[in-house]
Amino acid sequence: MAKVKTKWVCQNCGYETLKYIGKCPDCGTWGSLVEETECITKSSNQSVIIDDNPICLINEIKITESIRISTGYEEFDRVLGSGLVQGSLVLLAGDPGIGKSTLILQTAGHICSKGNKLIYVCAEESGSQVKLRAKRLNVNSDNLYVYSQTNLEAVINQLDVIKPDFLVIDSIQSVYTSNITSSSGSVSQIRECTNILMDIAKNKNITVIIIGHVTKEGNIAGPKVLEHMVDTVIYFEGDKYKSQRLLRAIKNRFGSTNEIGVFNMIDNGLEEVNNPSELFMKERTDNATPGSVIIAANEGTRALLVEVQALVGSTSYPSPRRVSTGVEYNRLLQIIAVLEKRIGLNLSKHDVYVNVIGGIEIDEPAADLGIALAIATCFRDVVVDSDCVIIGEISLSGEIRNVSDIEKRIYEAQKLGFKKAIVPKLSKKLPQGLSEIEIIQVPRLMDAIKVCVSKK
Ligand SMILES: Nc1ncnc2c1ncn2[C@@H]1O[C@H](COP(=O)(O)OP(=O)(O)O)[C@@H](O)[C@H]1O
Ligand SMILES: [Mg+2]
Ligand SMILES: [Zn+2]
Repeated sequence: MAKVKTKWVCQNCGYETLKYIGKCPDCGTWGSLVEETECITKSSNQSVIIDDNPICLINEIKITESIRISTGYEEFDRVLGSGLVQGSLVLLAGDPGIGKSTLILQTAGHICSKGNKLIYVCAEESGSQVKLRAKRLNVNSDNLYVYSQTNLEAVINQLDVIKPDFLVIDSIQSVYTSNITSSSGSVSQIRECTNILMDIAKNKNITVIIIGHVTKEGNIAGPKVLEHMVDTVIYFEGDKYKSQRLLRAIKNRFGSTNEIGVFNMIDNGLEEVNNPSELFMKERTDNATPGSVIIAANEGTRALLVEVQALVGSTSYPSPRRVSTGVEYNRLLQIIAVLEKRIGLNLSKHDVYVNVIGGIEIDEPAADLGIALAIATCFRDVVVDSDCVIIGEISLSGEIRNVSDIEKRIYEAQKLGFKKAIVPKLSKKLPQGLSEIEIIQVPRLMDAIKVCVSKK
């Protein structure tokens, strides 16, 4: 007999309770608990115990190399940790309209061209809408099946008919399972559906890609509640009004999470950007401007050159504004404090805005020196030489500290034609091959200003 259960579920984090409370005790959101009725007709949790994985000693376990399949895009593969692992469950999350369906359809085209069968479940669109997009993206293959369906059981039936290697669910918020009666998009539904899909991935060895819309605080559950359930979580980000898109792994059971992949959205789909530094530098003018500095950031296995801009303007308000985009706010406050105390810049009557160009988030201290110079040059109306790259962490005493992977950063700068690198005092000798760039070691913030700042 069917069992009916009601519970209150936080639509933000998935916290469950039996009675209503105004504020979620787990994530602290107000009014996010919604009553959900679960009618369990056939519990997928009550599975029969099959002991095909007997207990064994760690020394007896043989390592089986997992099979990886390329997505056809180097940028995507790198973020996944060199391709999709067979039988894994990947969540691709992002804002609506950012290009998730586009990316997956292009990837599907490539995967199918290598002889793999794929079912693309378009729960939000009709088959002909998908066909139109595929035509625009120039995707066609005899191995690519499109299924406009929202019921997960119907999809499962097709798995036995088609026997695919890949399954794409676009999106998890619009499919439902008949196991429970909650409406599609609710926390209970997307969790239960993800459970079922995980089962499919592991037991049938089908690689499953789930697309999830990131929702602003609202009624529909976001991908956050799924993150702990899946193998890999990838976010697709970018400014909707610009063409640049970033892929970023938030969680990865099969690879590192500090890689980013860069794409460009053009008329006929997404094209990958293999040399993002070049792209970030392209919009830059040759003339140096006050407040503009190039830094070498480290993103996973590669270094990226990005521009940091600062704007400093006087204000009549008693508390000046500090605004940062792409840089951690507290980091900015700390850098401003060091500039005031160690260099003597009086910023207490000035608003300071700092912006990292290209939507990149810099969360490493190696950007400190660049940010400090951007603020200082804008304040004094001078410039950092345009052929100069700035690398270094600033300590509270105004000293420049060493950073990781310094060679990689300098190489990238040399590759893009920069003539000077301002770096911390190095503790080791740099390898050969860096002869085209002058490496200037600076012990203190003051020294950095002396060597690379000049009048306009
Ligand atoms: N006919 C079209 N021509 C050019 N670009 C389009 C067209 N249709 C959609 N796009 C672009 O693709 C984006 C939507 O991508 P999509 O993959 O559907 O996003 P998501 O699946 O993340 O919601 C739109 O923002 C738009 O920029
Ligand atoms: Mg879509
Ligand atoms: Zn919550």
